[in-house]
Amino acid sequence: MKSVVKLICSLLVAGSTSIGVASAQDTFEGPIKARKAVMALYAWNLGQLAAMAKGEMNYNPEAAATAAENIRVLASMNNGAAWPQGSDSTALPGATRAKLEAWTTYPESAEINKSLADAAAKMAAVAADGLDGVQANIGAIGGACSACHKKFRESQ
Ligand code: HEC
Repeated sequence: MKSVVKLICSLLVAGSTSIGVASAQDTFEGPIKARKAVMALYAWNLGQLAAMAKGEMNYNPEAAATAAENIRVLASMNNGAAWPQGSDSTALPGATRAKLEAWTTYPESAEINKSLADAAAKMAAVAADGLDGVQANIGAIGGACSACHKKFRESQ
């Protein structure tokens, strides 16, 4: 009888531990999904500009200006709610690649985000005037993306 009680107790403890872990992940599932969606939109828009800059896609003034403006708008949005405390890769390995340093060194990441918005605004202002402007400004945009990734994103 004693051993049955012991067994039930250990099952309860094991159960509650695993529920605890699952709920922490569940809590952060929405925000992590949302910020990854913002990143996917960055990549989609930058991909079009890069393809034009490299001559892999025909230069289109309207499409170039739109993609740059989309990046500017995305970088200007307040998506703070998608970056809650505790949703870092130290707390949730495998679920996110956002390093804890993004929180501990804040507002450094926000400043990089601002530089991305500025670079995109410069690109948007000239993108419709010729391929030269796209080629001249794409480095600053890509540079802001990778500056943040180098500091605040796990490589894998
Ligand atoms: C302010 C910092 C910052 C900036 C600026 C930034 N990123 Fe990211 N990016 C991150 C972080 C942190 C992650 C990891 C997010 C996660 O796993 O929760 C990430 C993830 C990604 C991912 C993977 C998304 C996924 O589904 O896992 C892509 C693609 C990406 N970024 C593209 C870009 C591009 C393109 C730009 C520039 C136009 C950019 N990012 C600008 C910080 C940034």
